[in-house]
Amino acid sequence: MNSKLDVKDRLYTLINNHETDYATDVYINPVKEYIDLKRNLREKDILFKNNPVCIGVSSTIPNKGDWFTIQLIDTPILVVRKTATEVAAYLNICTHRGAKITKDSGKKAYSFKCPYHSWTYNLEGKLIGRPRENAFESIEKKKCNLTELNINDHNGFLWLTSNKKSEVKYRKNINHLDLLLQDYNLKNYHFYKSKIIDINMNWKLAADTFLELYHINSLHDKTLFPIIMSDIALFDSFGSNIRIIGPRQSMLKSKNKLKTNNDFKMHTIQVITLFPNTILVTHHEHVEVWHILPGNKENETKISLSLFTKEKAITKSEKNHWDNNFNLAIDVVLEEDFPLGEDVQKGFYADPTRKLIFGKNEPGLQHFHKSINQALKEG
Ligand code: FES
Ligand SMILES: [Fe+2]
Repeated sequence: MNSKLDVKDRLYTLINNHETDYATDVYINPVKEYIDLKRNLREKDILFKNNPVCIGVSSTIPNKGDWFTIQLIDTPILVVRKTATEVAAYLNICTHRGAKITKDSGKKAYSFKCPYHSWTYNLEGKLIGRPRENAFESIEKKKCNLTELNINDHNGFLWLTSNKKSEVKYRKNINHLDLLLQDYNLKNYHFYKSKIIDINMNWKLAADTFLELYHINSLHDKTLFPIIMSDIALFDSFGSNIRIIGPRQSMLKSKNKLKTNNDFKMHTIQVITLFPNTILVTHHEHVEVWHILPGNKENETKISLSLFTKEKAITKSEKNHWDNNFNLAIDVVLEEDFPLGEDVQKGFYADPTRKLIFGKNEPGLQHFHKSINQALKEG
């Protein structure tokens, strides 16, 4: 990270010289890493269990009793706001015979009743009722509470730590997250809406889509290029996390010199990767949060987009405005990035010995893949 110069000066210099931040060399990435089922299993085991994983944002569940569910690889999770200030996560598995307690998401619950035989749990995960209690009384109720998982709320981002290793890594990551997210405390944002998409490509390939601005004027010539400049970007890493900042075309049109923090935010987008699988795309008044989860096979991925706004959307015109922003983000990835990515994935199988080339102008891609390999090495 070039910390001596302010990011505003750094970006302004790049724009004037029509330049971008570079890595020290090109990086060669074997195609095998995207198509090897064994490698995919290792990544799921190590990156998604021995590392902290951001599984959501606390402002999605702003009121007591609000909740959402998520399937993290093989673990079904129920995330609940149990008090105004506390969020808890439980295994979404009933302690009676293992049914899922609940699905999807909801608001202002007082308790959760398992659909199978109606065992009921409160927001603290405690079993508070089981029909025909006398048939079970030799096993104390308190032995049948939901299993609580370890969840950490940092600036509104909910990090699951599944074991000791991931807890240690989470604590090491805190300083990086403090720096990276100082302007983006999502606790203060309002959840607008979200969508889940299933795609046929490796989860890393889905992430790669976001990690360079080299393709903006080519693949997105009609959609994003009128808004964002192509192949001009600041790159910084914060541990395994990444920040890419790109200028908007509005900066040139308005001849803005990016002098103040407000100018800078208004005329740039930031792509922030919370290693390993969460990507924020930040705008002046809103933030897109993308969560990427590997599926059962090496070429299956579930990806979700959630949009958070600085001001709560209340009027019809505000909602129209945010719907348009949401649809633009979804349409660009669904119609331009992902169809191309799915073809790339298919092409991988044609020659598994092939290698991908990440240019010096694609330092985000390089850092992401180096960080993955480093984390796999650490185990
Ligand atoms: S499995 Fe949940 S009540 Fe029986
Ligand atoms: Fe793209």
